[in-house]
Amino acid sequence: MLQNSKYLYKNIIYIGVGLLLILSQCNVEKKSTPFSLELRAGWPQPTIPPNNPLTEESIALGKSLFFDTGLSIDSTISCSSCHHSQHGFADQIAFSLGVQGRLGFRNSGTLTNVAFLPYFNRDGGIKSLDLFSAVPIEDHQEMGFNLLAASQRLSQNVHYSKAASQIYDRPFDGFVITRALASYLRTFISDNSLYDQYINKENDASFTVTQKRGMDLFFGPKAQCSSCHSGVLFSDFSFQNNGLKDTYANKDRGRQRITLNEDDEGKFRVASLRNIELTAPYMHDGSIPDLKSVLQHYSSNGSNHAVKNAIIDSIQLTATEEDDIIEFLKTLTDMDFIENPKYRKGAPF
Ligand code: HEC
Ligand code: HEC
Repeated sequence: MLQNSKYLYKNIIYIGVGLLLILSQCNVEKKSTPFSLELRAGWPQPTIPPNNPLTEESIALGKSLFFDTGLSIDSTISCSSCHHSQHGFADQIAFSLGVQGRLGFRNSGTLTNVAFLPYFNRDGGIKSLDLFSAVPIEDHQEMGFNLLAASQRLSQNVHYSKAASQIYDRPFDGFVITRALASYLRTFISDNSLYDQYINKENDASFTVTQKRGMDLFFGPKAQCSSCHSGVLFSDFSFQNNGLKDTYANKDRGRQRITLNEDDEGKFRVASLRNIELTAPYMHDGSIPDLKSVLQHYSSNGSNHAVKNAIIDSIQLTATEEDDIIEFLKTLTDMDFIENPKYRKGAPF
């Protein structure tokens, strides 16, 4: 009897050890296939935090989350509801609709080349792309949910929880959601417009006479667009009041919302102009419907706001010159990026 129970114990131990071995083999293996962004020569390297390296797996997870309505409180809205890839990840209406038809107060702008931005949102209120996604998820007007509840809900999805352990070696949580989305957003690189090919003398790319005139005006002393819209993204990322309004409503005084400094009233981050043809309506509140009206705004020298940048007053353009600049702006459209099937829902990345 004593002998038997000894065997029994021994056997239990063997079975236990065996089970542990099997379990440890089933234990999710880490998977991380490094992914490097292909960037045009001369473009800066975006900053990628060491604790969130780009991998094929993190990008794929971020992409699934980007289209997942489960991130909103009533499972009706995903990131892609307001950021459409075929419009440079912008929305086509002035203010996007969030959960239960709630209306925001800013235009959902382009996410083109978001990896290069030094700060986020048009008032620069958010400093980190890795934390950014908590904002729309928790914003009452957007997804109206919270990160903890969202991660609890989505962790029921075996595919997500397995990916979280494989990529980040942790349960599916807020860290995973925000980091994976940031990885996906960092792949929105648009650097192959006609303009890029033309200035790099590629593929026999050429400009029409009008496009060339528009470019010279854009960079020249009459239009002075490039005094703010400069660099590879056509933005110097400074905050400027471009004379859009005489007074800015309480709810959106731009940079002043963040600094509480009156001198920042109506100042917004200089907008990037890449894919601008496809991201109407324009400006922080989507109040300008088309490019012709944008150009007319600049040639009329805008409002008389106290902190309007003085350059706006000295812009002088004829109607033909406005049209030339518009033709130039259209050379910044990058169909390789816009039509890339990898950004479509369900398509392999
Ligand atoms: C209801 C519409 C809506 C939803 C849903 C939404 N966004 Fe946005 N998004 C906006 C608007 C509007 C802005 C502009 C805010 C601003 O400039 O202050 C914006 C701005 C951004 C920016 C900053 C861009 C910049 O130029 O600085 C990023 C990044 C972004 N969204 C990513 C996301 C992600 C990721 C999700 C999903 C988790 C998401 N958004 C969901 C409307 C939305
Ligand atoms: C003093 C700086 C400054 C100058 C000069 C300037 N801009 Fe702007 N531009 C801005 C700012 C700031 C914004 C964003 C305003 C907002 O969000 O309301 C902007 C927005 C735009 C937009 C809309 C972008 C979007 O996504 O909504 C276009 C198009 C544009 N500018 C084109 C031009 C052209 C063309 C010129 C030259 C005729 C020009 N700008 C001159 C500062 C400037």
